[in-house]
Amino acid sequence: MSESFYITTPIYYVNDVPHIGHAYTTIAADVITRWHRQNGRDAYFLTGTDEHGQKVHEAATARGLSPQQHVDELHQPFQKLWERLQITHDDFIRTTEKRHTSVVQAALQKLFDAGDIYAADYEGWYSKSEERFWTEKDLVDGKCPMSGNPVEWLKEKNYFFKMAKYADKLREWIADNPDFLQPQSRKNEVLGYLKKEVGDLCISRPKNRLPWGIEIPFDAEFVTYVWFDALLNYCTAIGYHPDGSTEQFAEKWPASYHLVGKDILTTHSVYFSTMLFALGQRPAQCLYAHGWWTIEGQKMSKSVGNVVDPHLLIDCYGVDAVRYFLMREIPFGGDGDFSHSAFMTRYNADLANDLGNLAHRSLSMTEKWLGGAVPALDANTQRDDALNALCADVLQTFRTELEQLHFSVALEALWTLVRAGNKYIDDEEPWALNRNGDTERLGGVMRRCLEVCRVAAILLAPFCPNKAKELGAKLGIDDLDVATAGSLDGLNAGQAVPPGEPLFPRMQELPERIQQTLQTLIPDAAKQAAKKAEAKAKKHAKEAPVADETQEETPRISIDDFFKVELKAGKVVSAEAHPNADRLLVLKIDIGEAEPRNIVAGIASKYAPEDLVGKQVVIVANLKPAKLRGVVSEGMLLACGGKAIEGLVTVDPECAPGAVVR
Ligand code: MSP
Repeated sequence: MSESFYITTPIYYVNDVPHIGHAYTTIAADVITRWHRQNGRDAYFLTGTDEHGQKVHEAATARGLSPQQHVDELHQPFQKLWERLQITHDDFIRTTEKRHTSVVQAALQKLFDAGDIYAADYEGWYSKSEERFWTEKDLVDGKCPMSGNPVEWLKEKNYFFKMAKYADKLREWIADNPDFLQPQSRKNEVLGYLKKEVGDLCISRPKNRLPWGIEIPFDAEFVTYVWFDALLNYCTAIGYHPDGSTEQFAEKWPASYHLVGKDILTTHSVYFSTMLFALGQRPAQCLYAHGWWTIEGQKMSKSVGNVVDPHLLIDCYGVDAVRYFLMREIPFGGDGDFSHSAFMTRYNADLANDLGNLAHRSLSMTEKWLGGAVPALDANTQRDDALNALCADVLQTFRTELEQLHFSVALEALWTLVRAGNKYIDDEEPWALNRNGDTERLGGVMRRCLEVCRVAAILLAPFCPNKAKELGAKLGIDDLDVATAGSLDGLNAGQAVPPGEPLFPRMQELPERIQQTLQTLIPDAAKQAAKKAEAKAKKHAKEAPVADETQEETPRISIDDFFKVELKAGKVVSAEAHPNADRLLVLKIDIGEAEPRNIVAGIASKYAPEDLVGKQVVIVANLKPAKLRGVVSEGMLLACGGKAIEGLVTVDPECAPGAVVR
């Protein structure tokens, strides 16, 4: 990738209401742009709206407006959404702007003068909805293969671009520039297309049929085909002109990346590249075609009524969580499904549990035991060395993956560090260090945990700019400088670091507005989503409570509180593996009642079922029964240890099953 970084999104059809698919590409472009800026590079980001075409004309007429009035209004929802999603584009191009239309005309004239555009009669099946011709063999059941709408036979004069003339050059270009088309699967698609004979491209429409377009400069009866107009936006926005471009164009072209959805791969790879060759320009360094989102398992469509409004997501989940989810959930390039239950699961697991918990634990222990100030580092142990090495590795992997637009892989790399931070706390047991008065080591341990939070804030910044800033502020740093992210030594000792509010509060259930939307739009999906979300929330609440390890000292409970808990001695009668969870065992425990109690316990990592039969244990006997992964548990077995079980609480053999423990 050259030093100047220039990235584009497709320009969105102004007729559409902005949806999650549009937001997806634009967030992706924003994340990588922010990352490059964070690294001190000069990154330039273009987006915009595609404002010509038959459908725009029809929609404007239906509203009783001129097409220009219509598009002047309808490009605004895109700009508003980008503001709310905190998109940091440098320019927003509209294809009805003079800076664009005049250059498109100049380009058409240049190609016409050079003989690369010619007039001919065109006959074929015309699809009004797709605004294009099809050959007989393209049709599916006699209808448009893309929309399924009826087609009509049309014969008319049109202008053609000699695309076939440049097809070989494109084949060579792809062979010589292995990174041009990505991911590989998309490259294969284009190579497949190019195996067949490439024809010339019809680039005009008669004005009497399509009055809303850029007029062909050498024939006022015609306007140019939407794609010829739209594709050139990537050049016109930065000052391209066939008779002499600006310095900005010379600096930025060829673009580093065009991000597009898979449906517009051919137009970008074949039409646009050959147009550029004809104009004496090179194609972008990389054309990256990502996959499509389905919604709760269904194709997103206005008629199904399941189009996801990004504003609703931002209102209910917050902008950072939305950006995070879209970038993390599916590999960029593949298809994926958007479901609210998946959203909630991902949010709770990654943001609330892993990162939120790490920050909360680190900051609150520092506050309780170390006066709320960043402690000094102590000498490194082997475990510290491993954490330091992991941090350096993670930065490298994160950078490499992100700069290839492997957003989810980069985040996964960062999460190995976040999870390692949590494990480091479990392993080092700062509560024990505190209890034993080992303040120096306690300080060193907490300092490294805070440092992991700092690195996480820096690397998360392009994805979750607000939460990253908030976390940075909690740690007393306002400069999220990537240069300091490769080591666990960037905080200022003595700096006050009050924990404040949790960064990502756990989501207990889907927000009400989301539940309502699901119910009205997709009732089945709503039920399923609510069920799944509830089950997952319960599971997580049980598996990973937000522990407050500092509670050794406070709060105290009264003796009355203690007596509310009924502890009883019991004897394990039988034990077996849980049918649905590796971590769990299902035990029958005799506590002197008519039937042994069925108790599900998370001790499979420490005990095999056969080790347990006959053991004298202690259970909480008056807990309300709960289902754990489908099996009812009628109490809780007492054991020692944090996340990792160290051993069971047992009683002397002479204590009869059912004896009260106090
Ligand atoms: N105007 C053309 C692009 C011209 S670029 C020179 C266009 N506009 S569009 O508004 O229909 O689509 C814009 C982008 O949204 C495309 O990249 C398309 O793939 C993407 N998406 C539309 N629905 C989508 C999903 N369900 N999921 C992901 N992206 C989706 O095409």
